[in-house]
Amino acid sequence: MNNHQGNQERTSLHGQWSSRLTFILAVTGSAIGLGNIWKFPYIAGENGGGAFVLIYLVCIFLIGFPIMVSELMLGRKGRRNPITSMKILGQEEHGNQNWKWVGLIGLTAGFIILSYYSVIAGWTLHYFKMSLLGELSNLDNESAQSIFNELTSSAATQLIYHTAFMAITIAIIAKGIKEGLERAVKLMMPGLLIILVILLFYSISQGDFMAGVNFLLKPDFSKVTSQSILAAMGQAFFTLSLGMGCIVMYGAYLPKNESIIGTTTTIIFCDTLIALLAGLVIFPIVFQFGLKPTDGPGLIFLTLPLAFSEISGGYVFSGLFFILLAFAAITSALSLLEPSVAWMIENKNYTRGKSALIIGVLIWLLGLLSIFSFNLLSGLSFWKGTLFDNLDYLSSNILLPMSGLLFTIFASWIMKRKHSLEELSDVSRRVYSLWRFSARYIAPVGVILVFLNAIGII
Ligand code: PHE
Repeated sequence: MNNHQGNQERTSLHGQWSSRLTFILAVTGSAIGLGNIWKFPYIAGENGGGAFVLIYLVCIFLIGFPIMVSELMLGRKGRRNPITSMKILGQEEHGNQNWKWVGLIGLTAGFIILSYYSVIAGWTLHYFKMSLLGELSNLDNESAQSIFNELTSSAATQLIYHTAFMAITIAIIAKGIKEGLERAVKLMMPGLLIILVILLFYSISQGDFMAGVNFLLKPDFSKVTSQSILAAMGQAFFTLSLGMGCIVMYGAYLPKNESIIGTTTTIIFCDTLIALLAGLVIFPIVFQFGLKPTDGPGLIFLTLPLAFSEISGGYVFSGLFFILLAFAAITSALSLLEPSVAWMIENKNYTRGKSALIIGVLIWLLGLLSIFSFNLLSGLSFWKGTLFDNLDYLSSNILLPMSGLLFTIFASWIMKRKHSLEELSDVSRRVYSLWRFSARYIAPVGVILVFLNAIGII
């Protein structure tokens, strides 16, 4: 497999995307998730709305873009799971197989993130069910809070939904790229967009739309601190699924003739658009009922159900909202599971079904720790807080920037210029140089700043 010329063409062992569209849908599906609909609006809310959005856009462009291009490039050139791809490329470009550790960090981050992502996604399934049963009507502050507390304090309820969510994810991944992944994203991504547009009309007609628009788009720089800038960078990273091997993995299934820079542009545009639309759905409704936009993580599970319950028929829309979140979460979860499953198929020679089941069950088990940290083990607190807080912190704030940084450094510093030029041959030299410059200098500095901030040094 090693080739000293360093430029061998490999093919993926799991097939390829059948079209550019399915590739874009799959990566966009990975990118659009709880990060866009749950996290982005509340972080924007806490950091001055429009001013934050502006900084976020700059971060997406300067940091997210070059890293995503780097990851897709490494995946397509390696054509294997992220660990093996980095091992092969490390050998070919650098004579050093240790780059496999970078892939391993990414895979580990993805493994951990999926374990708790599934728990939160389970909450959205629970809220979906409650909306349909009309159990989210006539809420007031207290009842909204107590519904949420009941959920988090019940290990059994969360267990059911966590299991359901993981089962769906495993079942889709077990079917492979064409029958599983592609079919799922072809159904869910258009579904997600349609629901979002319906909700947007609802928010225009029922909410204080102009207040929402003003809040989200009018910059108020007085609220911006250095912390907001770092939060924007961290969010840009998370929302584009960078540093987890997901994008490297999806790149491994990308046909050679597709444009990496072209598709990345589309994907980033869609991801940003959806985050903004989610804000335009949520804030007008929140303002209409005189609620606060800065309610932190509870914005979606506390404030929003309350706002929906004020309007007759609101339960239909809250049902739509939570199924939207569930769709977004499933298509992201698929990209978190695929790299480890591909690794198992390639290295242990197990079938795809068996690999998906084994890895899925391991992740499910790890998820139990997050569930218990809200109830049985809520008293257990160390380092950054509960077990859930620690898993989140370790994966999103440490592992993820670390592997994202190293993927970019590999693509822009270690990989021979000739090779990266080949992967990006469809764009002009100027665009190529722009990518290389930002991947070499701008993105690493940005990521290092996020990292130092995350570990409390700045
Ligand atoms: N990008 C997803 C989101 O915005 C989260 C995610 C992270 C998905 C990492 C896959 C990998 O919610």
